[in-house]
Amino acid sequence: MQALILAGGEGTRLRPLTIHTPKPIVPLANRPFLFYQIALLKRAGITDITLSLSYQPNKIEGVFGDGEELGLRIRYVVEATPMGTAGAYKYSQERLNQTTIVFNGDILTDINIAELVARHREKKAAATIALAPVENPSAYGLVETDSDGRVRRFVEKPKSEEITCNTINAGIYVLEPGVFKYIPAGEKFSFEYQLFPALLAANEQFYAYTWPGYWIDIGAPHRYLQANQDLINGRLKSFDVVRSPLMLNDADAATIKIDARSVIDPTCSIKTGVEIINSVIGPNCIIEERARIENSVLLAGARVGKAAEITDSVTGKSCLIGRNAKVTNATLGDKSSLTDYTIV
Ligand code: GDD
Ligand code: MG
Repeated sequence: MQALILAGGEGTRLRPLTIHTPKPIVPLANRPFLFYQIALLKRAGITDITLSLSYQPNKIEGVFGDGEELGLRIRYVVEATPMGTAGAYKYSQERLNQTTIVFNGDILTDINIAELVARHREKKAAATIALAPVENPSAYGLVETDSDGRVRRFVEKPKSEEITCNTINAGIYVLEPGVFKYIPAGEKFSFEYQLFPALLAANEQFYAYTWPGYWIDIGAPHRYLQANQDLINGRLKSFDVVRSPLMLNDADAATIKIDARSVIDPTCSIKTGVEIINSVIGPNCIIEERARIENSVLLAGARVGKAAEITDSVTGKSCLIGRNAKVTNATLGDKSSLTDYTIV
């Protein structure tokens, strides 16, 4: 088994967080996002992983390197221009000579990969697609199956009148090399709009595996915030978060309130009277006296002024929040700077 992670999108819907950081390495509970997918693959015994990149590839390579430290072999394929999802798979064909598990590079899940692969083999499928149930399929690929789990219909971004069920494409596939023949070389090509309809038209063995557990696409700010909170609240069975002890001096410590869910990088400086609830604070942040942070994510290098309040928000790298400022329900880009008493 090999794995391919599609991580070449520009992450436009996660702007402003993805302007200087590509979506695959935007931190989630203080670890680069793809870390979680890579850990899941590793646990399933899949150690040969190719990352398919296009947008800011060097930054991603810089984070994961050759994978040796993690006991993996990580390789990179960089497209000069985005080839589309299936085009990216085709573009990596030279590397992929066996059954391959393909992941969209922006989903957080604790899916049981062994079970997914077992289903694929049991059905002798050419392709198996993981499905997740959601309330509203319109932002996803809708997948209809028959009682045996065989895929009957695939509609990407269905219009309301096309919504006939609640199962959507979870962005995880098991593919046999035989499907390469449906993808033209050197062209932009899509799994969702082109390959899957082609497999159905050709009556290929195309099966589904429904994952009832945790699944989220982190590609928009509110879902990114949700994914961070789900992780730190232990809603993903397979992942622990790292809670390193903080170096607080005793006098300060007595006045500081940090709840048990919050994840704070040990390089942060936390001053007296600060309150941090259900939040993630990245490296090198400075939180001044009596500031209050709740249900929020602060990326690296934030400086939060005295008595400022940040609630239900995400702040990009190196933000400056003035004293007594109030930030609610906001997503601030890197280096945003709010003057004292500002209300956002
Ligand atoms: N290498 C490469 N090249 N990767 C790409 C390209 C490309 O040209 N285009 C997109 N990707 C990557 C993105 O980086 C992302 O990780 C993944 O492919 C999916 O692209 P998105 O742009 O996030 O698609 P989506 O969220 O609208 O829809 C997709 O995901 C849904 C589940 O989250 C579809 O697969 C839907 O059917 C699915 O339900
Ligand atoms: Mg997406």
